[in-house]
Amino acid sequence: MGVVVRPVPRHDLESFLESRKEIIELILEKALPRAMTEDYVNMLSGKPAYGYDTESLTMGISRPVWDFLSRGGKRWRPILFTLIVDALGGDRDRTRDYAALVELVHNGTIIIDDIEDGSEMRRGKESLHTLFGVDTAINAGNALYFIPLALFVNNKAGFSDDVLVRAYNIYSTEMINVHLGQALDISWHRGERSADAISEEQYIQMCAYKTGTLARMSAKLAAVLSGADDKTVNVLGRFAESVGVAFQIQDDILDIVTKGEDRERFGKPYGNDITEGKITLLVIKTLQRAPPEEAQTLLDTLSQHTREKEKLDAAIDIIERHGAIESAKEIADALVISSWEEARKVLPACEAKDMLKLFVHYLVERKE
Ligand code: IPE
Ligand code: IPE
Ligand code: MG
Ligand code: MG
Ligand code: MG
Repeated sequence: MGVVVRPVPRHDLESFLESRKEIIELILEKALPRAMTEDYVNMLSGKPAYGYDTESLTMGISRPVWDFLSRGGKRWRPILFTLIVDALGGDRDRTRDYAALVELVHNGTIIIDDIEDGSEMRRGKESLHTLFGVDTAINAGNALYFIPLALFVNNKAGFSDDVLVRAYNIYSTEMINVHLGQALDISWHRGERSADAISEEQYIQMCAYKTGTLARMSAKLAAVLSGADDKTVNVLGRFAESVGVAFQIQDDILDIVTKGEDRERFGKPYGNDITEGKITLLVIKTLQRAPPEEAQTLLDTLSQHTREKEKLDAAIDIIERHGAIESAKEIADALVISSWEEARKVLPACEAKDMLKLFVHYLVERKE
């Protein structure tokens, strides 16, 4: 018999998420202050040999990054981290600072992603490179890949070297994976490979690399820092990766179906993925099903990187008419359900486990 999961009412989940978000804001401020101080710079890299210019460091890193962080964001990766720590009975106080780590990396990846994708909007405002310049955005985004490493070196929170080496290895592996995922996605949206030659498996692997990987980093770090054995760490990592893939599929669906007034809240211009030429599961499914003429229209529109509303409407219409959205949704749901089956076996029955189950379903069913 499987573990009976007590249902948690949805409003409980929403208030829980709000309260976790508040804690995460405080952790983020500690991990990267809104203004650089001498103490913080010393923590990052030791006392400078010559002198400080904390004001310019604030202008170059804290100010743009906090402009970005203050726009909100779902913070689901650190929430996943804290839920896994709780479910495994880990030490909340000692692991707390590490919850910020994945959120910082995530923000770094989307700052850089917007430059790579030529996206001018993020979280409903101008993207960081449009607002602060490409030079500042690249440097701040890259800084967010490396600042978290200071936690492993300079703020160990009493973890043993063995635990920290395991955590560090997870960090470096996932940082490589995220770049493999971006390489595939970029190569495909540049049209370097014919879209109809890309398989569903290849698409899912690309998502596992580009989006699954930071979810997996979060889950694995939480498990290692909570003292879990290798098997538990790997099962939870795989679970989180599947949630990440399902999340990406849902993100791709939302990009197609979010229209009219809702689009503003979505934070990206109408038809953004079509303009980008992105090869999503929706595109792959449509190319398999549509008659040759419609498939060609879709391929042509994707290769044109157009913002013309009529062309975007026509491409979206083709995708919607061939049932790609329903099929993609089924794949996303099945991924979450089957991976939860594995995850639930390694977690003891507790409130955090119930919340985790509800939380991952909520993430994949989100409407914005
Ligand atoms: C955006 O991630 C990039 C994707 C992997 C789709 P989120 O949708 O989690 O971004 P924020 O942090 O909530 O803005
Ligand atoms: C973002 O992928 C993934 C990473 C930044 C690693 P996308 O390019 O698909 O995400 P959005 O649609 O811009 O949020
Ligand atoms: Mg993008
Ligand atoms: Mg991208
Ligand atoms: Mg998207």
